[in-house]
Amino acid sequence: MYKIAVIPGDGTGPEVVREGLKVLEAVSKKTGFKYEKIMYDLGGERYKKTKEVLPDSVLEELKKVDVIYLGAVGHPDVKPGILEKGLLLKLRFSLEQYINLRPVELYPGVWTPLKDKRPEDIDFVVVRENNEGLYVGEGEFQNKGTKDEVAIQISRNSRKGVERCLRYAFEYTRKRNKRKQLTLCGKTNVLTYAFDLWERTFNELAKEYKDIKTDYTHVDATCMWMVKNPEWFDVIVTDNMFGDIITDLGAMIQGGMGIAAGGNLNPEGVSMFEPIGGSAPKYTGKNVINPLAAIAALSMLLDEIGEEKAAKMVEDSVKKVTTKMKSMSAGKMGYSTTEVGDLVVKYL
Ligand code: IPM
Ligand code: MN
Repeated sequence: MYKIAVIPGDGTGPEVVREGLKVLEAVSKKTGFKYEKIMYDLGGERYKKTKEVLPDSVLEELKKVDVIYLGAVGHPDVKPGILEKGLLLKLRFSLEQYINLRPVELYPGVWTPLKDKRPEDIDFVVVRENNEGLYVGEGEFQNKGTKDEVAIQISRNSRKGVERCLRYAFEYTRKRNKRKQLTLCGKTNVLTYAFDLWERTFNELAKEYKDIKTDYTHVDATCMWMVKNPEWFDVIVTDNMFGDIITDLGAMIQGGMGIAAGGNLNPEGVSMFEPIGGSAPKYTGKNVINPLAAIAALSMLLDEIGEEKAAKMVEDSVKKVTTKMKSMSAGKMGYSTTEVGDLVVKYL
């Protein structure tokens, strides 16, 4: 009996999560696993009513579940940063979800802005460090508000934090068993402290993983190759900020936010899965948003809890449904949100 915490969140989050839960119910019946859903009303609406973002009592409860399924965070009436930092980043940090795993895979029938690239060309995974770097929120203002103002934002990279991320990436590359190639994405020519540590640790670990080919690209060049030759990549590992940026680019080349899913992993603890697009306020409540990213996130969730067969069934079904849809974009799919969810259930 799995305990699954569900945080539908803001905007279109509840609509896409509803479709994910529909698929969860159907696939659990087919493969025979049991689960208990625990719903949490965290997000902008609750914050507006109670000023609570993530009460400690809720955080304690979340530490005891098997896995978390998250819709979206971000509300037009709430100042940017409050929910993102107070809920999403707080969960990632407090639950030590030190990996953000973001597959970039072009599914069959999905339009990509990269001309002449096919599904076999766009199939790689970004392993983003998820607990350190610029996201630690350290820094200061000096002489704030004066003409001599200086704003300092620190990127913290601990040996332990870097090493566990890199080790995960090496293991993941081995387990993925495709081209067995791991690319470190950094900026060793400018960020000579942070990426010196990353590169040294990477090269040390590489000696333990002789079956994995390793290479290195600067982050700017990574963006270039992701557009020009995405087929060169198998697994990319990088820090929190660069990972944030390159995975939005990744989402675009795989067909958009409507299809891009990700997992915040604590391999030894509680992980959390989410569609990587935001709360899309302008599409909220219209039954037009694409639920496939949330459903693909569900597939990753199932894989993580050990229901590999169910995970594969959901993924295969999504890959059938994409061939039937006109577009991955909200309002242009040729189906409504609920119809796309129904199709995934039908093809399971
Ligand atoms: C993401 C998002 C978040 C991030 C925001 C909402 C804080 O962009 O999951 O990539 O920067 O990590
Ligand atoms: Mn992002």
